[in-house]
Amino acid sequence: MKKKKVGKSILQIGFCVLGLSGFISDTNAQTTKLTLDLTKPGANVSPMLYGLMTEEINHSYDGGLYAELIRNRIFKDNPTKPEAWSLIQEDTNTSKASMKLIAAAPDNVPFDERRHAISGALQTCLRLTVEKAGGRVGIANEGYWGIPVKPNTTYKASFYIKGTGSIQPQRRPGVPPPTNPAPVIEDNTAGPITVTIESSDGKTVYASGTIDLIKSAFWKKYELTLITAADVKATTNARFVISTNRAGLYYFNLVSLFPPTYKNQSNGFRSDLMQMLVDMKPKFLRFPGGNFLEGPLITDAFPWKQTLGPLENRPGHRGSWGYRPSDGLGLLEFLLWCENMKAEAVLGVYAGYSLNGDHIDAGPLLKSYVDDALDEIEYIIGDVKTYWGAKRAADGHPAPFKLTYIEVGNEDWFDRSGSYEGRFNQFREAIEKKYPQLICISTIADAQYPDLKVKTGKKAAVLDEHYYRNSWAMWENASQYDKYDRKGPKIFVGEWATREGAPTTNLNAALGDAAWMTGMERNSDLIIMSCYAPLFVNVNTATATAPKAWQWDSDLIGYNALTSFGSPSYYVQKLFSSYLGNKIVTSTSENIPTQPRPLTRRDSTDGITKAPQVPTVFYAATKNDKTGTIYLKLINTSGKEQPIEINLKGISKISSDATLIVIKGSKPEDTNTITDPEKIIPATSKINGIAPVFTRMLDPYSVSIFQLQTGK
Ligand code: AHR
Repeated sequence: MKKKKVGKSILQIGFCVLGLSGFISDTNAQTTKLTLDLTKPGANVSPMLYGLMTEEINHSYDGGLYAELIRNRIFKDNPTKPEAWSLIQEDTNTSKASMKLIAAAPDNVPFDERRHAISGALQTCLRLTVEKAGGRVGIANEGYWGIPVKPNTTYKASFYIKGTGSIQPQRRPGVPPPTNPAPVIEDNTAGPITVTIESSDGKTVYASGTIDLIKSAFWKKYELTLITAADVKATTNARFVISTNRAGLYYFNLVSLFPPTYKNQSNGFRSDLMQMLVDMKPKFLRFPGGNFLEGPLITDAFPWKQTLGPLENRPGHRGSWGYRPSDGLGLLEFLLWCENMKAEAVLGVYAGYSLNGDHIDAGPLLKSYVDDALDEIEYIIGDVKTYWGAKRAADGHPAPFKLTYIEVGNEDWFDRSGSYEGRFNQFREAIEKKYPQLICISTIADAQYPDLKVKTGKKAAVLDEHYYRNSWAMWENASQYDKYDRKGPKIFVGEWATREGAPTTNLNAALGDAAWMTGMERNSDLIIMSCYAPLFVNVNTATATAPKAWQWDSDLIGYNALTSFGSPSYYVQKLFSSYLGNKIVTSTSENIPTQPRPLTRRDSTDGITKAPQVPTVFYAATKNDKTGTIYLKLINTSGKEQPIEINLKGISKISSDATLIVIKGSKPEDTNTITDPEKIIPATSKINGIAPVFTRMLDPYSVSIFQLQTGK
């Protein structure tokens, strides 16, 4: 915004409405005016302006984008109990059964109780002990807040199983026999094992199949498909059951159930969610975090090496948000996700700082972490002749992925020890030495943390700024980038959101977002990338057996096991990214109406006693210089209709027809939910009456995008 005259409130502006819907004639000198200077070409819009940020939070992957339906499939979520699993006994009078976690055990446990590992990653299994089977006996998984059942759907189930009879422990000489010996159970395990998707009360079977368990005390993986009928009613009130009617000891591990995935990719993504992301047309994906990159302790950082290859080799890890990620969505899957969206990776590498405040000092101790980052980069872009490039090829992707930006750490402003400067420089020097084409991003932004800024070494070319604010703060600061130094580093707004509404944001948040985005877009010569956070939220609340699914309020895309929806903010993101030119159109405004912002506690600390005035209209314009299309974004955050005169300076030829896309609602709290997913969605219409100077009425609480066609 080059010139801004803040004028009177729109309530004080007189106007009369013409017959033509939405157009008004205004004779008052105080008319709100916007001039788009089309006499000269503007600066380039950053080709990477809008992207996505992701991490495992709010069950974004497990119970979200990663299509696996079995929760706790390798039984490591809780070392004390088989969480999400329950015992099924059809007839408790005639059956006797129990289930138990058999974990990697110390030496003093009998040998037979210990030898159940399948791999270094799969060392804990579930044992179903069937002493007497008077009917169906089995284990049930409740999924991630239910197993989604849909009609006409083919599910792929697989699991490791082995069967045996009583445990006959080999005891060490001198060790006395147990006082409570294990019961003698015959090995009747061989034969059909039934696999079902059924209602949670077991009364309705939606899909069923069997595997033929061979007589063997060794692990074997079995696979089968389960198909639902056309007349099945969609529900999440369902469970996955593996059952038998014969006595014996049954051991299970890596129990998996996949619905059809996006483009049928194996170990793939939930289709509806991936499609919503593809529809946003993001230019990049920032991963793996966020806090998820760092982990609570230094040993909990995102362990990218153990997220590669067969699921049998993925133990999962502690995570940063209170639950154990399976890492089924690992490094390669992040990259395939980028590929699905035709986006490039923005890779966050662990830089030696953990959430509990520990850090590794720059120097020899940090070297192994730098080497690990170099390996990770080699996995992504290395030639197949390199060690990690060859691993990528062996994992099924010989072609390197696109990578330009490496972010060194995450939010290192939390590290008040001052160690980041050394850590950043050590990473940057090593990365740029091996890969001169890559650009390293510093997580400490000069403007946000002037006291912490990196002062030695080469200046970082890009700084990451994060903003979580309410809508007032977004409106108040929407033009902050108008004043930034153009000679300084480029800015990556790597996390930001207007935090209003839970679990997903409401209309007011979307108005905050849209206003903020106009500021980024007008300054997209400087703001080279931006991404909202968090992206995903599983909206389930706590049940008797599962905790609340989310940890962070105000998220972009919500879902349960069956359906998903976009928040009003989601639609703002999608529209901003879809309707974007390649040149910034310099714009100036007059008489933008304002409203007083409520005073905050911070104001009183700062000695501010008079409510500051905050604009209620925001704007950004870009142009595609090949097609001559102008994209004008106008936001009205007030509850009143707002007339605005638009002057297309330097334009002699303009089509009188245009496309208008509007997101609006009747009150700021309006929102979308899992049961009312489309209350606030964009509406597209054709309008006419566009001229080099024209006036439009902006709806209350609205985001309007005008697609105007000039003669080139
Ligand atoms: O987006 C949620 C969290 O906010 C991120 O993990 C962290 O980087 C930030 O503090």
